[in-house]
Amino acid sequence: MINIKDLFNIRIGNISPKNPIALAPVAGITDSKFASRFKNAGLVILGGYNLDDRTNKAALKEIARGRREFVSDEPMEFLRSELEATEGLTTIAINVRAAAIEPFIEAARITKEFDAILEINAHCRQPEMLELGVGEALLKDTPRLCDYIREIKKTGVVLSVKTRANVVNDVELARSIRNAGADIIHIDAMQTQNNMNAHGSMHIHNAVNTHMNTHSAIHTRGAIHKQGMDTGVIKRIRNSTDLFIIGNNSIVDFESAKEMFSHGADMVSVARAALSNPGTIDYLVDEVYSLQSLTGWYNAPKHICAGGDLRALAFCCLPVKPCALHSALKQAGISAEEFMRIKTDFARKTPIEYGEGTCFGSMTWCCKITKPCFLRDGVLEYTGLSDVEYMHIKKRLSEYILKHRKK
Ligand SMILES: Cc1cc2nc3c(=O)[nH]c(=O)nc-3n(C[C@H](O)[C@H](O)[C@H](O)COP(=O)(O)O)c2cc1C
Ligand code: SF4
Ligand code: SF4
Repeated sequence: MINIKDLFNIRIGNISPKNPIALAPVAGITDSKFASRFKNAGLVILGGYNLDDRTNKAALKEIARGRREFVSDEPMEFLRSELEATEGLTTIAINVRAAAIEPFIEAARITKEFDAILEINAHCRQPEMLELGVGEALLKDTPRLCDYIREIKKTGVVLSVKTRANVVNDVELARSIRNAGADIIHIDAMQTQNNMNAHGSMHIHNAVNTHMNTHSAIHTRGAIHKQGMDTGVIKRIRNSTDLFIIGNNSIVDFESAKEMFSHGADMVSVARAALSNPGTIDYLVDEVYSLQSLTGWYNAPKHICAGGDLRALAFCCLPVKPCALHSALKQAGISAEEFMRIKTDFARKTPIEYGEGTCFGSMTWCCKITKPCFLRDGVLEYTGLSDVEYMHIKKRLSEYILKHRKK
């Protein structure tokens, strides 16, 4: 396993996960014991834990009808013992449910002591939890969710909110939780059934990829829908907030992970595929280390014309032809003239200013490194710029362009 310290340079507040692959929470399963085999993951999300009497009682009712849950008479002691048991493993987050704010605050204080991340579960849709106003009920009560966030953030803990896509307006939700002070949005980018039918997604009962053995079906919640993820949600949130985004749903191989990354996810998380084949996480970690070592920008966007988010303006051509660039610029509130000036100003005195023989005479307007092009590669070789250095400059260029957006 490749393990170059800080290859990814990921920062979320004072927390620096070593890579962008996470184990997602699965109630009743992902505790400290289960997590111990996932030390290579950049983030392990334990839980979901129930923090008060009411959620523990609701969980008992769920158990009575056959679901798995973590239940405890001493939830805070349990939380502390789970954090102690995972100390030093990797970056840890704790996914939690509570029917009032106080237990969240207490849990946040304990979590912060361990330099871990607290994650509000605004995702669960078990009826016993919804009745208490817990889980997905919070998505439909954004003012209360935002009050929770503001109060919890007073403890100084790094805070994630786990959401389910396509329940409410995801962009408005993301903006609200950002404004309230959350650091991370962890999105289960689940397609609605209508979307799935429209996109003709494929049922896979055996997730297969070229590097892993075929692994068996995941029956915890039915088969995983490969391409069942709604990457459009990830892109819309990327285009509207600077929240750290953990993309989740139907990650079964590196192709599906790359789909999430190239639409704007900073990290991806895996639940069912990690249960059926724990090797999935190590495999994804290896692949993403290779990608980052070769390209320097593991979550580089697709080109705008291939459906990429606004960061991809860094790869756009001179605005001289009718194409998707113009609607992207409109979305960003940047005119074509400003776009030319912004990119040219940035590129001046950087090696991408050069580009004799490329389409537009400067690599400022050149494509992503993964798009094969002998013209650009010839200039890279001539100027002694590596692929990774080229992409690092393009990444900075994308940040520079987006600093100038007016919308
Ligand atoms: C049995 C089961 C239990 C789950 N429990 C939780 C939970 O406690 N908290 C939570 O935020 N998500 C929970 N999830 C959702 C997963 O974290 C994840 O969002 C979902 O399974 C989609 O990701 P996947 O396609 O990688 O499985 C659960 C999922 C399953 C299948
Ligand atoms: S400017 Fe070039 S890269 Fe950008 S959308 Fe148009 S054709 Fe695609
Ligand atoms: S020279 Fe190659 S990399 Fe540059 S804009 Fe043209 S096709 Fe893209």
